[in-house]
Amino acid sequence: MKPTKNDFSLELAAYLSEKDFVYGPEPELYGGIAGFYTYGPLGKRLKNNIETVIRKAFNVNGFFEIEYPLIAPAAVWKASGHLANFSDPTIECSKCNSSFRADKLVEEATGTSDAGHLTDEQLVNQIREHDLKCLNCKGRFNLEIKRYSLMLKTTIGSDIEAYNRPETATTTYLPFKHYLNFFRNRLPFTVFQIGKAFRNEISPRQHLLRMREFTQAESQFFIAPESKHTWEKFSKIENETLPFWTEDAQKKGQPLQIIKLKDALAKKILKNKAYAWNLWLSYHIFTEMGIPVQKIRLRQHYSDERAFYSDDTWDLEVELNAFGWTELAGISDRTDYDLKQHAKHSNQKLVARSPENVEFVPHVIEIAFGVDRPVFALCDLFYSKREQDEKRTILAFPPKMAPIQVAVFPLVKKDGLDDKAEQLYRSLENQFLCYFDDSGSIGKRYSRMDAVGTPYCITIDYDSMQHQDVTVRERDSMKQERVKLSELEKYLFQRLQK
Ligand code: GAP
Repeated sequence: MKPTKNDFSLELAAYLSEKDFVYGPEPELYGGIAGFYTYGPLGKRLKNNIETVIRKAFNVNGFFEIEYPLIAPAAVWKASGHLANFSDPTIECSKCNSSFRADKLVEEATGTSDAGHLTDEQLVNQIREHDLKCLNCKGRFNLEIKRYSLMLKTTIGSDIEAYNRPETATTTYLPFKHYLNFFRNRLPFTVFQIGKAFRNEISPRQHLLRMREFTQAESQFFIAPESKHTWEKFSKIENETLPFWTEDAQKKGQPLQIIKLKDALAKKILKNKAYAWNLWLSYHIFTEMGIPVQKIRLRQHYSDERAFYSDDTWDLEVELNAFGWTELAGISDRTDYDLKQHAKHSNQKLVARSPENVEFVPHVIEIAFGVDRPVFALCDLFYSKREQDEKRTILAFPPKMAPIQVAVFPLVKKDGLDDKAEQLYRSLENQFLCYFDDSGSIGKRYSRMDAVGTPYCITIDYDSMQHQDVTVRERDSMKQERVKLSELEKYLFQRLQK
């Protein structure tokens, strides 16, 4: 029988646990609760490498990072609209009472990624039409959609109602007055956070894609409304092409279009230059992580699918082997919604001043990345069983993303080879993510490194002692070449940029 996507996702999850990337659900020792995972030693490095790509792209564009507390009182979430609006449509099994997200059931059954725009009635119709049954007991569903809040409640002290933040974004808006001071009242400016967010997902079943505690990396670009149309950095990227799948094309069943950013503006696919530039930056960050361009598309939200705060949203979707097209980031024009709401509810003035000293409320364009989904995407897309050798399973990560970039081995543990290998390892570990291994046959050591995605293995052998060179073996081609020790750092450095 042909393996299904579900078989693949289970196989991948088991592999990632066995190879020390992701353990869980946690607490595993006590049976585990869906939606909570531990990054093992290699998974944490992979996640750090992803955060490094995001942080670097943000930093080189003059974005500044802050860190806000994870918990905030109810007043904040009332103002942001999350308490009233942040909920998912769920449906309950009439037999075992298990609840599931109705839109996700429909997306899985239809192979689409846009059931978020369906009304409750349309969701029920789809569930009826596809004869969907309870995933736990195969019972029939009560054909009624219920709204289920995603907010994870807690208490501060003995009686202050509070919530774990469901996104970093809202908490980035709150110190707005301090930013004005820091940026000397000059807009546009961008502030970002990389940190935890919490959502009380009803029945998370998609490993790192749908967690109850996860990491977001979200930037907030504050700009005067009229400057959105004149954002100067746009001219540097206007001729670059992106894969746009507009709301209109989706409705008409048409494919996506790969077009230049300047044409997307001219055709009114995008509303303004500042938004277009943020969209480009998001796409650029994903290609920097090594996600192949043919696996990426930008899908515009239907107008009735957008979050309550958004005027325009495009999702950056990646086609995964395990789950098909999946949202990895969302780019939204949140206009002045958040600052106005927090000004109203806090009774404070949240405004900037134009050069002519006129007060205005800035607009905010948000890039909302999750960090966990890219971790999953890299594992999913680069997990491969090599056809030429069924037993060879590798994670063919782009070299710069690999959790171990260089492994150093002595051919044998004697005759000074071990000391020389250790010396080499010490000299490289300041520059690269390195690993030393002197146990088992060389073949076994290679396959252990292939299995976790290490692109280069270096062996010190008897010739190395005489000629001051080493064998470098490349993961994907399995080709070996001799490299002079004096050239090695440069050799690796060039290859590990990719
Ligand atoms: N501030 C806007 C916002 O939070 P979102 O589309 O709900 O927008 C942004 O979330 C990103 O956060 C998503 O694209 C995804 O990568 C990640 N994300 C959201 N919910 C998640 C979950 N339950 N588990 C893992 N990642 C999640």
